[in-house]
Amino acid sequence: MEKIIVNGGTPLFGQVEISGFKNAALPIIYACVLVKGKCILENIPAISDITYSFEILSGIGAKIRMIDKTTYEVDCTDVEPGKSEYDLVRKIRGSYYLLGAEFGRFGKARVGFPGGCNFGVRPIDQHIKGFEALGGRVSTEGGYIEIESDGRAVGTNIFFDVSSVGATLNIMIAAATAEGTTIIENAAREPHIVDCANFLNTCGARISGAGSDVIKIKGVSELHGCTYAVIPDMIEAGSFMVAAVATHGAVKITNVIPKHLESISAKLEETGAIIEEFDDAVMVTAGEKIRRTSVKTLPYPGFPTDMHPQMSALLCHAEGTSYINESIFENRFRYVEELKRMGAKIKVDGRTVVIEGGAPLTPAPVIATDLRGGIAVMIAALATPGKTEISEIKLIDRGYDDICGKLRQLGADIVKVTVPDEDEELKAN
Ligand code: EPU
Repeated sequence: MEKIIVNGGTPLFGQVEISGFKNAALPIIYACVLVKGKCILENIPAISDITYSFEILSGIGAKIRMIDKTTYEVDCTDVEPGKSEYDLVRKIRGSYYLLGAEFGRFGKARVGFPGGCNFGVRPIDQHIKGFEALGGRVSTEGGYIEIESDGRAVGTNIFFDVSSVGATLNIMIAAATAEGTTIIENAAREPHIVDCANFLNTCGARISGAGSDVIKIKGVSELHGCTYAVIPDMIEAGSFMVAAVATHGAVKITNVIPKHLESISAKLEETGAIIEEFDDAVMVTAGEKIRRTSVKTLPYPGFPTDMHPQMSALLCHAEGTSYINESIFENRFRYVEELKRMGAKIKVDGRTVVIEGGAPLTPAPVIATDLRGGIAVMIAALATPGKTEISEIKLIDRGYDDICGKLRQLGADIVKVTVPDEDEELKAN
């Protein structure tokens, strides 16, 4: 079993380069299933969600070739629908994009229910509603979601009940090669929706309006291969921004699109940090003190839910009471108990986290409860003098490319260690 040991209390200084965006790379990788031909994907992050996705696609007949650390050739010419491995699919959430991709290419799909971080109920009713609107007959039995149709997805008008990143992407992917035109209303507007639309258009799709709440997709009969670079990871960037402020450091964060970071920059400025924007970088300098603030998570361009736990970790160090209202997921609060172990005065009241900041934290053994909860306890540990031990770090590896190496480059004292698995030890005894 691996753990991370953080000897905190050292300000982060220097420059760090951000990797490609997990939540854009995932739909793009699965969208390759629509393409008969080779796609060269650049700026792919080295994280386990991507490794699993390549394993899933290889398992259904795709040929994946690594060109260099961040570039892959993906050839889905010979893939077959309905063949994905149940146990692999359930390891990650992004695997649900295989549904839209198989349905778009073959008019049918069969994929196991996805996994992903546990935030309470994570329904997929809007995905199913969209597939049905496109002419799919959807059944959910035996742990699988199965779509059948009369041959091909057929374009239509779809109005989503909630703004869903996953449903918007899944339906956009399926509709790209559907017969006729699809219009998605109340579409999610996140930068990864735009990125996936740009990828599909580079392959010959006819998608307009991505980035607004109405997306128009004129179905085409076939897509061709292309070379495409995924956008930088705004959540990885935001996490480093928060870490710089929490440790009273100064960090230049490169390979970013500053526009995608605006809601995060604005909140950090409210806490007293200074943010300078460059063409493809931001410089974050901590203020003298960390000031309290209130945050409400919202769909883009609002403050991202994927930055909520990191902000909580920061605001433990602010003077006064801060509030974070989580409006996207009903239960994204498991990390709160871990911050409490470190002495944070933090509680959950309904869907709001209340943080009485200013009391110094102390190191404690903690776990990564989920991907962003894991990075939040890491930020808390970086800002806390002494040795904090973080377990269950596989969840952090799902979405952060070489997190320990990048933090060490900024002066952090952080190592990943392998320790004997306690269960294995018990068995041996
Ligand atoms: N929702 C429904 N029905 C649906 C789909 C969603 O009610 O069919 C609800 C959800 O319960 C939630 C809201 O709609 O309340 C938004 O969910 P969304 O579908 O946008 O989220 P997702 O597709 O499951 C993706 C990211 C998450 C990120 C959210 C919000 C991927 C693989 N996952 O999840 O990323 O938090 O969008 O931006 O892209 C992460 O990276 O740590 C992460 C959890």
